[in-house]
Amino acid sequence: MHLTQTDDPPLSNQPARDVERADAGHTRVVILAAGKGTRMKSSLPKVLHPLRGLPLITHAIRLARAVSGAQPIVVIGHDAEAVAAAVGDSGECVLQSPQLGTGHAVMAVADHLPAAPNRVIVMAADMPLIRSATLRALIEEQSRAQAAVALLSVIVDNPRGFGRIVRDAAGNVQAIVEQIDCAPEQLAIRELNASVYCFDGAWLWRAVRQLTPNPRKGEYFLTDLIALAAREGRAVRAIVGDAEENIGVNTLADLADADAALRRRINRAHLLNGARIVDPLTTYVDVDVEIAADAEILPNTHLLGNTRVGAHSVIGPNSVLRNAIIGSHCAVRQSTVEDARMDDYSDAGPYAHLRSGAHVREGAHVGNYAEIKNSTLGPNSKMGHFSYLGDATVGAGVNIGAGAITCNYDGVSKHPTVIEDDVFIGSDTLLVAPVTVGRGARTGAGAVVTRNVAPNTLVVGLPARAIRALKPES
Ligand code: UD1
Ligand code: CA
Repeated sequence: MHLTQTDDPPLSNQPARDVERADAGHTRVVILAAGKGTRMKSSLPKVLHPLRGLPLITHAIRLARAVSGAQPIVVIGHDAEAVAAAVGDSGECVLQSPQLGTGHAVMAVADHLPAAPNRVIVMAADMPLIRSATLRALIEEQSRAQAAVALLSVIVDNPRGFGRIVRDAAGNVQAIVEQIDCAPEQLAIRELNASVYCFDGAWLWRAVRQLTPNPRKGEYFLTDLIALAAREGRAVRAIVGDAEENIGVNTLADLADADAALRRRINRAHLLNGARIVDPLTTYVDVDVEIAADAEILPNTHLLGNTRVGAHSVIGPNSVLRNAIIGSHCAVRQSTVEDARMDDYSDAGPYAHLRSGAHVREGAHVGNYAEIKNSTLGPNSKMGHFSYLGDATVGAGVNIGAGAITCNYDGVSKHPTVIEDDVFIGSDTLLVAPVTVGRGARTGAGAVVTRNVAPNTLVVGLPARAIRALKPES
């Protein structure tokens, strides 16, 4: 059976609301994540490497939750504490110690959970491109054939490394032979084991106890169960998946391949939802990003984390948005927006930097070389040129002149600045916080404002004068 290529949207691996009811808790998903990941050559555990905004383990957990209402079971071993922390309460961790192979990992789960579930999906944690539709196809195939196991395979041109699927003349799966055990003619088999299975739970719980260590490697191979089922006359089914879906992450090169494939899948889903991504090859969108129809994303743009972009907004080129909430009809040109929000009809850039806690209200304008941190720029206010707002609350209709800045930090602590509605801040004004500029007030060019300004008042100047000697730096 071959799977047809589907283009389900990136969020399709989110749990469907009816999963719990449809599955009635009969399928448990076991995610194998105890291995070391040596080939990553990284100090970070393999399953914690991020891919499009989420660690690999989270990709696996979301996939599991999309097909089963029950908690996924995550087998942990190497770096168990760090992996368990990443799993949190989204899965049930089972410690496998020592790690004696994939079969041994499933034994640990059977020990932990004496009553066999109806069905058990076993999959490696390092396959972030598997679709929930594929797992559902495996479940269906296993149920329909009353098979001991339905497994996912992939056909490649140059087989290497993976377990080979051995079929008899009639095409029935007889065994999986690992590369180290392959006879020369088996090495040429192009159908490979992807390491994603749906087992009959009762059968698996019994059969896994019969595994013996592989004589060459000393590990318990989960793959030995296939020959065991065939010998018992139980049906074994294999579904052939597509190569992209079966990308397994073993090295950083694989991770880059997975990123390219997932990026393409995510961008395509947004395009099909009506987001105008001009150049998908240079557009980097994380899995949880939301883009409204009729938004336009220009090249070299990164939409990261929980970023949301509203309708008719134009983002890019060359922009980086992380956890940015952008309303509709906004523009972000060649700018960076992190942990910040922009309301409808506002715009930023080129070369603006909205940092944590920046809130640009509706219709406001942030121009070039402007930086905003933990501040609100009120409705229809303008901050056109190289300015800095930190810990400031700016009202509506305010004009912030070129080079004006809030001096919010006195070297020890941060202080707030309040600029009320309809204020005009002259060019190069320094607002030494804490300070409030009252409604309708104006400051002259170069003013250094150290005291509150009453509403509708013009303040100017401040001659720089020596007030005391500074101690030399110690
Ligand atoms: C496995 C399969 C192979 C398949 C390949 C696909 C076996 C024996 N072989 O080989 O047929 O083609 O995957 O990628 O199953 N793990 C544990 N505990 C352990 C050992 C491994 O949890 O004691 C986990 C790893 O963290 C990993 C997964 O199991 O997520 C697979 O282990 P890995 O060592 O990568 O298996 P492969 O040699 O790739
Ligand atoms: Ca592997």
